[in-house]
Amino acid sequence: MKELVPSPIIWKNDELHLLDQRLLPNEEKFVICSTIENAHDGIRDMAVRGAPCIGFTAIYGLALWLKVQKVYSFKELERAASYLKQARPTAVNLMFEVDRILEAVKANFSANSKVQDVYKFVLSDGHQQIENSIVKNTKMAQYALEDLTKKYGVKKLNLMTHCNTGFLACGTLGTALGVISYAHSQSRVEMVYADETRPYMQGSRLTAYELGKENIPYNIVVEGAASYILKHKKIDAIFVGADRIAANGDTANKVGTSTLAIVAKHYGIPFYVVAPLSSFDYSLKSGDEIEIEMRTPDEILGYKNIRIAPQDAKAINPSFDVTSADLIEGIISEKGIVLKPNTEKMKIFLKD
Ligand code: MRU
Repeated sequence: MKELVPSPIIWKNDELHLLDQRLLPNEEKFVICSTIENAHDGIRDMAVRGAPCIGFTAIYGLALWLKVQKVYSFKELERAASYLKQARPTAVNLMFEVDRILEAVKANFSANSKVQDVYKFVLSDGHQQIENSIVKNTKMAQYALEDLTKKYGVKKLNLMTHCNTGFLACGTLGTALGVISYAHSQSRVEMVYADETRPYMQGSRLTAYELGKENIPYNIVVEGAASYILKHKKIDAIFVGADRIAANGDTANKVGTSTLAIVAKHYGIPFYVVAPLSSFDYSLKSGDEIEIEMRTPDEILGYKNIRIAPQDAKAINPSFDVTSADLIEGIISEKGIVLKPNTEKMKIFLKD
């Protein structure tokens, strides 16, 4: 596992330590969560972020809640779970992990079970999910590189990405950034173009920090430069992550992703989505049904307490957007690739 970057989620002394991603890259400090409320707020306030890490944090949040219960009640556990699910709306991994662990607890425990046993079960599930994701992320990276090799042969690649999808977002290798990291380990990366990712700067703060730690050559670019970069920099492929993928392949990801996909289509550059199956939401027919998190306008009107816009300026701050499936070359998960996704292909993919 790559440990050049501190682990974003650590369980230590019966508490959850979250690397405070709001302070990166300048400070590597941890927020200590000793209650479910701390875990909830860590997700809501983005001390921890990235779809997979949000899901893992929620499992630990339930463990923190169970730790202080006197008796086991499934009904009360469900209530705690629903509180955690409200922390952020778009990344389905949060709901997926919480619902999955509820199912597992229901199947393994009864009303007479000891709450300490349920606590241990949930805690070890949290550890297990992070462990499992190493294997999943590595598979995704291999599928992606195989597809690129089919397209271009074995050559060094110019790649572009948006937001942060690496170790910090996933707790292990990463999804889209995992592909880049893996390609670099195979000496296949010429240059990475990392979108700054306004307004929260996941690209310039976090992706650049991760790429730098691994000595992967990169340039940060502003989202507005997409057309220039794609036209002039011989980009071979774009890799992004996902917060929720609907049954037809429409994909919600960090705001700015769909703009990049539209520009990529214009220049004929393959645009890939890389995400674990926990990011798939087959209950939604299309991306139109995905709830988009609206964040505070303050993130746009200023930066770190420095006001940029006029005092009376207004802003709207959708944190995600939906990329239409017809703009996507392939959706890559631990199960394989769905090339040029649509409802039919996604259905077959899930069944196989
Ligand atoms: O608001 P964030 O920083 O949690 O958003 C993260 C993203 O949009 C990522 O691209 C997505 O979660 C995929 S993470 C592997």
